[in-house]
Amino acid sequence: VRILRTIPGIRSALRPARRADRAIGLVPTMGALHEGHLSLIRAAREETHEVVMSLFVNPSQFDDADDLAAYPQDEDRDVELAREAGVDILFAPPPRLMYPPGFSTQVRVDGALTETLEGAHRGPEHFHGVTTVVTKLLNIIQPDVAFFGQKDAQQALVIRKLVRDLDIDVRIEVCPTVREADGLALSSRNGRLHGDDRRRALALSRALKVAEEAAAGGERDASAIAHLARVEMEQLQVEPEYIALVTPEDLAPVHVVRGDTLVAVAARVGEVRLIDNTLISGSED
Ligand code: PAF
Repeated sequence: VRILRTIPGIRSALRPARRADRAIGLVPTMGALHEGHLSLIRAAREETHEVVMSLFVNPSQFDDADDLAAYPQDEDRDVELAREAGVDILFAPPPRLMYPPGFSTQVRVDGALTETLEGAHRGPEHFHGVTTVVTKLLNIIQPDVAFFGQKDAQQALVIRKLVRDLDIDVRIEVCPTVREADGLALSSRNGRLHGDDRRRALALSRALKVAEEAAAGGERDASAIAHLARVEMEQLQVEPEYIALVTPEDLAPVHVVRGDTLVAVAARVGEVRLIDNTLISGSED
């Protein structure tokens, strides 16, 4: 795997692939790779010729300075995992090259998509940080396909909207959430779940399972489903920040589950804030 740290460096490294009309895949990451990231890299490996992974812990998307300070960073480990999973080029710029002195531009998706759920709890600035850095990465690398995880369902929707609104010539592919055997959605923050918090973290995936089962059993009232999910979380002494039933396309609140509905949940477990989601269906089959 070639490691490039400058913008001219990555651009010239990608020139031969672009000239040869070889499809470029981008997997944007903040490092601390886990099986979820590796599944994105494998998808990129299968669907594109040249796999680029970016590794950049983007300060502008952290609403909590302690979360940024505690964010796990181990580049050697990430390089090794990226290599094994099939990354060709790793783009790992230092912050001063992504945000040089005088940097003053922001790319923001406004409206409900960034103001609800995570936007309501972390502030929409979180998504403005994401869309600004993702726009920069898409401009620098100009991939044919960029890969994101369904665990960050709202982020994926915001990025799709960004790409559509700004006519960015890239296909966004969203890959399924990868889970531990007991159901916990993989996250770079899981390593900070200490002692009993690892067990309590199951509150999120269990709540989603309860929601799935309720919908499969015929329950259509969204607040009844949310209530059952909340009770499940409380069994593990976890207080949800939100459990929301929303439309999967634009995150509008759902009151009666008729079609596909996204159930999204967020909660703090110990010192770690976790999110997860699932799709439930209101159809009879
Ligand atoms: O999902 C992430 O890891 C980040 O939000 C991303 C997309 C790499 C932007 O910094």
